[in-house]
Amino acid sequence: MTLPRWIPLDEASLDADPFVQFERWWEEAVEVVREPEAICVATADANGQPRARMVLLRSRDERGFCFFTNYDSRKGHDLEENPRASILWYVEPLGRQVRIEGAVEQVSEAESDAYFASRPRGHQLGAHASRQSQPIGDRTALEEAVAEEERRFAGAAVPRPTHWGGYRLVPTLFELWQHREDRIHDRVLYTPVDGGGWERRRHQP
Ligand SMILES: Cc1cc2nc3c(=O)[nH]c(=O)nc-3n(C[C@H](O)[C@H](O)[C@H](O)COP(=O)(O)O)c2cc1C
Repeated sequence: MTLPRWIPLDEASLDADPFVQFERWWEEAVEVVREPEAICVATADANGQPRARMVLLRSRDERGFCFFTNYDSRKGHDLEENPRASILWYVEPLGRQVRIEGAVEQVSEAESDAYFASRPRGHQLGAHASRQSQPIGDRTALEEAVAEEERRFAGAAVPRPTHWGGYRLVPTLFELWQHREDRIHDRVLYTPVDGGGWERRRHQP
């Protein structure tokens, strides 16, 4: 499929459900982006210090948007102190940006186990070896930590470390942004309404 570069955003043609609309944009993004799963997740600690980093969006459904990481990482500590985050997804070839804000919770242990079990063994050993976001002397020390895990689990399946798992962002806001050639860009925000459903409103660019 060849998509026109910039498709104007008309709020009337958007789905009433932002999750469904996200899926439409997702299907179009996978045609033109090498790694559509790459999203920026911004957290903030208890002092309000914002902190953004890329992660991979590994699953999404009507409950929310999931990524996997080390619960003991900097982001893990931020989310412990302040369980809210903002996802940013940019689809450069289509001039699209999606912002999703919401509360963040850990996914169930069963979901984390299932995802961990699907990862290549090298990733699994890395999850045991890396104290993510902690300093380490040099790369050799890191490689030695991985080798140590290789020896520890030789000939056996690698279990999920308890410090590793998924987070789910449960959206309370979606913003879809569409680049327009005339620079009067389109922005539509979805916010939840009491009793269910979402309201969508155009905002100024
Ligand atoms: C494209 C891309 C994808 C990434 N995916 C993940 C991921 O899924 N999980 C993860 O823990 N880190 C991922 N990282 C590394 C993070 O950006 C970050 O360095 C790491 O999670 C530590 O962040 P923190 O110190 O803020 O916790 C990815 C980095 C890039 C550039």
